[in-house]
Amino acid sequence: MGTIRSIIRSVGAHLPKRIMTNDDISKIVDTTDQWITERTGIKQRHIAADDELTSDLGTAAAHQALVRAGIDPVDIDLVVCATSTPDRTFPATAVKIQAELGVTKGAAFDVQAVCSGFVYALTIADNFLKTGQSKRAVVIGAETFSRILDWEDRGTCVLFGDGAGAVVLEAQPQKGEANPRGILSTRLRSDGRFYDMLYVDGGPGSTKTVGHLRMNGREVFRHAVQKISGVIEETLLETGFAANEISLFVPHQANKRILDGVARKLGVDPNKIVVTLDRHGNTSAASIPLALNQAFEDHRIKEGDLILMEAMGGGFTWGAALVRW
Ligand code: UT7
Repeated sequence: MGTIRSIIRSVGAHLPKRIMTNDDISKIVDTTDQWITERTGIKQRHIAADDELTSDLGTAAAHQALVRAGIDPVDIDLVVCATSTPDRTFPATAVKIQAELGVTKGAAFDVQAVCSGFVYALTIADNFLKTGQSKRAVVIGAETFSRILDWEDRGTCVLFGDGAGAVVLEAQPQKGEANPRGILSTRLRSDGRFYDMLYVDGGPGSTKTVGHLRMNGREVFRHAVQKISGVIEETLLETGFAANEISLFVPHQANKRILDGVARKLGVDPNKIVVTLDRHGNTSAASIPLALNQAFEDHRIKEGDLILMEAMGGGFTWGAALVRW
């Protein structure tokens, strides 16, 4: 059997209509547009309506990706949704999205790796496709972090937003091309010793409540540049590419200072980094596919481009994926 690769056929996204600016937040907690802009780069974020669920955002993003790919939902046999804000503790949000899309074959499940969730979900789906277990997958990152924020904690509530993004993957046999398309490499990492650095202080099995997001921002920041740079360097080493051969970096959008720090450390041209956090804030697992969608809509991606995605989040979890579009 020849090599099978997962090709990204399309991308889609969906953002709630309501926009909350830094000035809006400064009316809720003791903060300013200047502090948020200077310390994070965030200017605004989208906030889901009360009746708008993570599955609604995820379904809309996946639907757009399927329409763009021209793929009928009945031909999808895997739905993976990365989320830390599921509609319910169970069943999986992916199952709801599966039904909403009209997908009836194969399997649907959620992946929980917080901000690294999309890289984790992409990696899992890629492995299902490469082994021949699935043919076409929808991989979604969807979040409503506004629901788990402590709106009295200025250290965290200013950082996050809601949204969803999705890609459609298709298994394609490789014919020995010199520059094969598709997912070329993925790397996942986690280190549970940092379990208490970024977490939610509740859960069905501990407090029987949902809880609120808590973060030791300074410590997370300290680890972020080092861990993200490390996993990118490993990916480049494994695939034999130099940093300057990458066409576009599509990172998780947590803090502009982290993106700049990684760019400096690796010698990456800042113009090659897709930045959406000014408009979206940190949307956790949704941030990479939202940024990918923005780059696609801005015509910054063309066939053959090398795209590197990376993320780091609660757990700690972190990872990277290198794709030829
Ligand atoms: O997506 C998962 C990964 N997450 C991340 O990567 C987040 C990583 N961390 C960060 O991005 C940054 O640590 C933050 C943006 C969260 C905070 O920035 P910082 O430069 O590390 O600020 P700090 O926490 O050290 O706080 C500095 C000061 C403090 O005041 P004092 O103690 O120096 O008087 C805070 O109380 O800034 C104060 N502060 C604020 N002031 C105005 C904290 N939040 C705010 C705020 N507005 N919203």
